[in-house]
Amino acid sequence: MRSAAHETYDLEHTISAIVNRYGGKAVGLIMALQDVQKHYRYLPVEALKLVAEKMVLPIAQVYAVATFYRAFSLTPKGKHHICVCTGTACHVRQATVIVDDITRNIGIAPGETTPDGEISYETVNCLGACALGPLVTVDDEYHGNMTVMKMAAVLDKLRGKHVSVKETVEETA
Ligand code: FES
Repeated sequence: MRSAAHETYDLEHTISAIVNRYGGKAVGLIMALQDVQKHYRYLPVEALKLVAEKMVLPIAQVYAVATFYRAFSLTPKGKHHICVCTGTACHVRQATVIVDDITRNIGIAPGETTPDGEISYETVNCLGACALGPLVTVDDEYHGNMTVMKMAAVLDKLRGKHVSVKETVEETA
């Protein structure tokens, strides 16, 4: 079992490497936070403090950026991340049916993570590929023309074998 001292060292080491990637300059703050989020799957408070310290920024400024963008999360995200577009083009193509189905299937509302930490789920207003609606991303892969049946198969695989979702969708297409 790792000690608290080891974990503190790891955090310090990781944040130093990320901040140094952007020359320790404030202009790299958003990119650094993106890297921190990618590494930890969220923005731990201790990491934010270290970013502020190493970039010589007020913690309030770092916190303001971390809470302004929806892409950032201050709470742990699941291993897998599902995002359903509910923008106008997807909405008229029954995106809400997909949203309701996912909520019923995995038992969490948008913005939540399953208790086992496996799946995070959220909705957004537009993913920038409206012609593919209803559009869902799963672990950053785009899946257009989503249906309840395809989504159910994707969720089953995510929870069961953790195989590539792309493979799952191709199998069910
Ligand atoms: S409205 Fe869904 S991708 Fe644009």
